Amino acid sequence: MKSILATATVLLSGFALLTEAHISFRYPCPRRGAYFDCPQPGPGEWELVDYNIRSPLGTHGGITNPMCKWPSSFAGDRPVYQAGETVDAKMDIGAYHKGGSCQWALSYNNGSTWVVFQDKFRTCMSDASNGIIYTLPFTIPADAPSGKAVLNLIWNNNEGNREMYSSCADVVIQGTNGGSLSGVEPLLANYGPSSPLIPEISAAGGNWGEAFFKARKPITVSVPKQSQSKRHLTRRLNKA
Ligand SMILES: *[C@@H]1O[C@H](CO)[C@@H](O)[C@H](O)[C@H]1NC(C)=O
Repeated sequence: MKSILATATVLLSGFALLTEAHISFRYPCPRRGAYFDCPQPGPGEWELVDYNIRSPLGTHGGITNPMCKWPSSFAGDRPVYQAGETVDAKMDIGAYHKGGSCQWALSYNNGSTWVVFQDKFRTCMSDASNGIIYTLPFTIPADAPSGKAVLNLIWNNNEGNREMYSSCADVVIQGTNGGSLSGVEPLLANYGPSSPLIPEISAAGGNWGEAFFKARKPITVSVPKQSQSKRHLTRRLNKA
């Protein structure tokens, strides 16, 4: 009896790990994550804290959350990044699922349109392990316009349930004052039954969805010129 109970406990904790704890940004701060050094909920906002911030947005079977998981951050400072800067993002990894494919996207219009500016196919976080903080650098495009932006890391896992993740951080970009940013629209795979299906990489003879990624449509977004001086602009913008 004792050993049956012990086995059941191990199975339950293993199950919890696989179903609740996958990946999220740790730095920059993900929207509404329960991290002590990130923007904290204001009065009446405690029920908005996401204690399961590392869970996916959905699977190929069904959608659980919209892009980014949450529509906004709690009020607080936003990190300021320079165009062309390489940032060592930190990922909070519960279960790394043998890595997968990453797409980094920026939105200057609160998530209405996204421009993918960096990819890492198949091997994104594949040398991670479960239960660690993992460094995952990204580089802001050198021609990125200045302004408030949402940074989105979209991830499809190699192994396990066919899932899609999206971890978003509200940031400020300092680059050209007014301009445009070009890239491709994100591929939203394994996100509801009508989305493209990327199979488990091992079960599919190495098929990681290359054709879907190649078919992404080009997109250019324009960001209007700001009249304020850059200094003033940044001070004003870096509050969420
Ligand atoms: C962004 O859009 C969401 C709804 O999708 C809204 O709740 C939020 O207030 C918006 N944020 C800004 C800064 O407009």
